[in-house]
Amino acid sequence: MAITDSLHQIGVEFYMLRSEEPEFHRNIYFKRFIGPDGSQVNMVMDPGTKLDLSRVIAAANHLFGGLQNIDVIFVSHQDPDLTSNLDALLSAAPRALLLASIDAWRLIHMYGLPDNRFKAIEDFRTDTLKIKKTGHLIKFVPAYYCHFRGAMMVYDFESRVLFTGDFMGGTDTRKGPGIYATEESWAGIALFHSIYMPTNSVVRATIDRIGMLDPFPEVIAPQHGDVIKGDLVYDFLGRLMELDVGLDLLEKKKPEKETLAIAVNEFLEKLRASHPDIFNIVFEKLKEPGKFTTPFYIPGDTVVDVKVDVEDALRYLWDVLETRITDPSSRLSAQKMLVTTLKQYNIKIPFKVEDIVEKPEEGGSIIIDSFE
Ligand SMILES: [Fe+2]
Ligand SMILES: [Fe+2]
Repeated sequence: MAITDSLHQIGVEFYMLRSEEPEFHRNIYFKRFIGPDGSQVNMVMDPGTKLDLSRVIAAANHLFGGLQNIDVIFVSHQDPDLTSNLDALLSAAPRALLLASIDAWRLIHMYGLPDNRFKAIEDFRTDTLKIKKTGHLIKFVPAYYCHFRGAMMVYDFESRVLFTGDFMGGTDTRKGPGIYATEESWAGIALFHSIYMPTNSVVRATIDRIGMLDPFPEVIAPQHGDVIKGDLVYDFLGRLMELDVGLDLLEKKKPEKETLAIAVNEFLEKLRASHPDIFNIVFEKLKEPGKFTTPFYIPGDTVVDVKVDVEDALRYLWDVLETRITDPSSRLSAQKMLVTTLKQYNIKIPFKVEDIVEKPEEGGSIIIDSFE
């Protein structure tokens, strides 16, 4: 695919390159600051991994006239999904300066990066930086503990795009092509924050810092998931204010989660006994070792923990049954089995189940009870 087909302009001289994984990808961003006299400063944000390098090179060729013309590399934090090609980029771009928090640098300099190529964001006199060559303003906004102690975001005043790193990121729950968030994106954002953000109070503090930006951002550009713009910016920030994440979930929902784990194990046992082939498909998807997107912790043969909100976990499980079981009658049978088991444990189902129809022997249809 030509690089121009993979680059998406999301604001004035602000571009996104998305990696191609279907469920959880990386977004890499490029910004060209172009001054009135035609001078240009080139910035890349969270430049990805070795897997992304060839496409980053192609994008830099297209936008900057080559990797060697990168002036600024901004990294939101230290994770390898965004820092593991820094050594390659710094070698290829001799004048590029790496900007990050001092906390992030403490870890990323372990790649063997030279000290003289790094500038700590905390060392600037103010949070707002004027790019001398072109006159543009950018502002660094801390996202402390979201999810890393020294996480940073950067606001480009010209485009009104706020690059947020992992904050506001999500797994891909929106179906179909495109890069912009819809209502369908929320489930992925909620799941990602439930797992990765330590507690709601730090999420709120980060939202408060975003709220103080003047002018308020028009576009939120996270390192994972969809780009958020328009009313959804306010809408999703509002919902995040109320979302239990990390420790909140561990502390508040423990008994509920333990019950859910027991119920899901019972359901899986019934499924294994009655439909061993279907069980294998479902269980493999739920287990998926190494992927954080599974909300159930299954170290052996049983669920021992639920890592997200009970409702989110049930939605996920339901989605697995819907999407992984291709035979309609087996799917229906598994869904009925799940609903019946959850009912036995008095677990409220967070979605309508009236439309789950079973064909009885007479050939008509009956509707499984809803638990609303
Ligand atoms: Fe991260
Ligand atoms: Fe990330």
